[in-house]
Amino acid sequence: MRVLFATSEATPLVKTGGLGDVAGALPAALRARGIDVRLLLPRYRQVGAALDRARERASVPALAGFPAARILEAKGPRGVPCYLLDCPVLFDRDGGPYQDAAGADWHDNAVRFGLLSRVAALLGCAGSPLDWRPDVVHCNDWQTALAPAYLRFAADARAASVITIHNLAFQGIVPAGLIGPLGLPAESFTIAGLEYHGSISFLKAALAYADAITTVSPTYAREIQSEPLGFGLQGVLAARSDALTGILNGIDTDVWDPERDASIPAAYGPDTLERKAANKRALQERLGLAIEPAVPLAGMVSRFTDQKGIDLVIEAARWILRLPAQLALVGTGAREQEDAVRALARHHPGRAAAFIGFDEPLAHLVEAGADLFLMPSRFEPSGLNQMYSQRYGTPPVVHATGGLVDSVVDCAPETLADGTATGFKFAAPTAIALLDAVDRAVGAYRAPATWRALQRNGMARDFSWGPAAVRYAAVYERVARRP
Ligand code: ADP
Ligand code: GLC
Repeated sequence: MRVLFATSEATPLVKTGGLGDVAGALPAALRARGIDVRLLLPRYRQVGAALDRARERASVPALAGFPAARILEAKGPRGVPCYLLDCPVLFDRDGGPYQDAAGADWHDNAVRFGLLSRVAALLGCAGSPLDWRPDVVHCNDWQTALAPAYLRFAADARAASVITIHNLAFQGIVPAGLIGPLGLPAESFTIAGLEYHGSISFLKAALAYADAITTVSPTYAREIQSEPLGFGLQGVLAARSDALTGILNGIDTDVWDPERDASIPAAYGPDTLERKAANKRALQERLGLAIEPAVPLAGMVSRFTDQKGIDLVIEAARWILRLPAQLALVGTGAREQEDAVRALARHHPGRAAAFIGFDEPLAHLVEAGADLFLMPSRFEPSGLNQMYSQRYGTPPVVHATGGLVDSVVDCAPETLADGTATGFKFAAPTAIALLDAVDRAVGAYRAPATWRALQRNGMARDFSWGPAAVRYAAVYERVARRP
């Protein structure tokens, strides 16, 4: 089985969120099962710098509105072979993969990710310029979601296609006038195809034409088939429910391992949890929080957006701080959200702290140094931080939605008794419900035996990629058209 894993980000080369983590770890887990998975990724400026020994493998002539490009090959993350789409006019620039340094979307994203999709499809066709041809093209999110459409309309398509939805809130909706420049056939622009309220929807193209659709947790797979979490695509998803599977993400248990984490001052495991105190102290020092070992410290590492419920934390903060508890908030977002988080920290010096920025080692320190981890997401396709936090003995407090439902077991007398409790869930995305759950967590924190049990239950869970890899392999088997 040969699979081309087409993605717009992959840790550690380029990451803005969970998709980067998935693309940095799942392909290696699949290769460990004997599947020949290779990545396709744009050669952004930082990728070119990191993989400077890439070799040219093929050239792709200009077509429709796309400039000419080259395909390079290099060893990617964890030794996974990586095809780099090299097109300097589109990808060799400063700034992020989707946005410029000021946070505005690149004006030519439709062409940039249209080309990535087109090349993904091309590699699955008989006319591919490479001698390695995949049985399955596995697309991820809107940035590669036109590939199933190109494959469907190509005369020489050989590969099947799979789309994984990591977040339905981002759909890649672009003006209808781009149909020509994107090299899409006019007959794809229908309601049964990629047309969405008069525009082109990248993601809808994949939902219409992919052979299989997956998303990153079973609960989210159900939620997106109706309003409000279907974000306008609930009808299409419900109509294709036979092709839709929810597979909970795993985590990279080598990178996220409290016993071998180079980013934290004190390594620890389930039997040495007392060492967590040194990490808490380091976190308090780093962020300017009062050094108070006995006050529970709640951490959060997140994009500061409505999805993640940062506004709920800000609203509940003054009561949370009075429990008493401390808050450590790390993240980036729109100016308004960042300012609100900064203001919170300013109003409660020593008790609430903010770090605005993307800082991977600090994310590890928060996981290790906090006592609780907050994830009040309004929706969460999978979520990774709640899994990291369980592995770090830092019980998560989560809104019961999406992957958070599937990966956290609420603390209650029964779940404590049968050894399954790992965190705290609340039912409504409101500040009061969040506060109530944090209050329950702080109560448990004050009962050391209960707290140790919660920590150890979470640390004992298997969140590795193995189980997910088995399920993806089954999806590939189902769709691959083999000669
Ligand atoms: P999403 O992809 O929706 O943002 P996930 O929970 O799947 O949410 O993954 C987010 C990933 O990005 C996690 O690995 C998290 O630690 C990381 N992350 C988010 N914000 C930051 C930040 N400011 N600094 C460091 N890591 C961050
Ligand atoms: C998205 C989702 C997140 C998920 C990640 C990786 O960004 O918001 O829940 O964990 O993708 O699949």
